[in-house]
Amino acid sequence: MKAVQIEKTGSWEVLEYKEVETPVPGPSQVRIKTAAISVNFADIMLRIGTYPTMPPFPAIPGLECSGTIDSVGENIKDLKTGQPVIVFGPNCYAEYVLANTAEVVPVPEGIDLDDAAALTVNYLTAYHMLHSMAGIKKGQTVLVYAAAGGVGTAVIQLSKMGGFTVIGLTSTDEKSAFAQSQGADYIINYKREDVVARVKEITNGSGVDLILNSVAGDTFARDFEVLAPMGQIIWFGFAAGPPEENLVELLQTNFPKSVGIRAFVIYTIAQIRQDLMRHSYEVLFRYLKEGNVKPHIHEQIPLAEAPRAHRLLESGSVTGKLILKP
Ligand SMILES: NC(=O)c1ccc[n+]([C@@H]2O[C@H](COP(=O)([O-])OP(=O)(O)OC[C@H]3O[C@@H](n4cnc5c(N)ncnc54)[C@H](OP(=O)(O)O)[C@@H]3O)[C@@H](O)[C@H]2O)c1
Repeated sequence: MKAVQIEKTGSWEVLEYKEVETPVPGPSQVRIKTAAISVNFADIMLRIGTYPTMPPFPAIPGLECSGTIDSVGENIKDLKTGQPVIVFGPNCYAEYVLANTAEVVPVPEGIDLDDAAALTVNYLTAYHMLHSMAGIKKGQTVLVYAAAGGVGTAVIQLSKMGGFTVIGLTSTDEKSAFAQSQGADYIINYKREDVVARVKEITNGSGVDLILNSVAGDTFARDFEVLAPMGQIIWFGFAAGPPEENLVELLQTNFPKSVGIRAFVIYTIAQIRQDLMRHSYEVLFRYLKEGNVKPHIHEQIPLAEAPRAHRLLESGSVTGKLILKP
């Protein structure tokens, strides 16, 4: 089969489209013929070597895809060939992927496989940050970084479903317009606007209840400034690198506001809260069928052009999700 493999970390050219052996499922595995493969920011971190859990090399990147089961191991009872599924597991940049049953989710009838591939990481991350972690309530306000991106778009759409006011941060007017078209109530272009002043103006001085920060770098001091008393920050990514500020010091300075900061990774829920995962898939499939959420596919790119997909995502010009087609 054809797959994209990396033998060493580095720039886009380490993504090699090549012939590799087609994997054979073990007794408790299924093999999926991929239909749509998602590109995530985490794939870039893996390629450059900054992903927290690096696989042994050579490695096939990719954390999620959709496709059709084409072979099942002898112990598998509840999945069958021909069944459309999502895979939330490794090695997805390939024509065929092996998965354990825990990594496979059947796709209900009527759901497009590109939408299914775009749903898992972005929408589950958004859903569990808003609901399982923050427990945000109708009428409260959420501030989301990278609002026009994959997770950002999902946060906006799910916030509308929950009745939350959503303020998005973006770096360009094109991305601001896109995030607004997805339902954001307010957009702040952080490159040319004063974020603290704008948030205070929007919230009549009270600040936001929840901040979803995927950027880190030097952003946390500002977050604490715009956080309402009893508000919380969920830190779920490092697009600008590790935090530059001392988080304990920031907590101490803001002690009288009873605010909080926590880390979030979707894999924690996937590994230890299968009940929450199942529930969230049910909710998201329903929202998708009812047209209440709709992943925005920025571009479908041939798998052979994975380097172009990475270059595009790194350039910061992607709105919504990039999909690779095998
Ligand atoms: N913890 C989890 O479980 C989890 C799950 C999924 C994703 N994530 C994280 O969530 C973030 C969004 O992921 P995504 O796949 O949807 O990507 P994305 O938002 O489509 O792309 C990343 C965006 O981050 C913003 N950004 C700000 N500073 C940046 C910098 N220094 N370098 C690059 N980008 C920068 C850019 O938007 P602006 O130009 O508008 O600022 C860029 O478009 C990533 O950091 C990812 O690692 C975490």
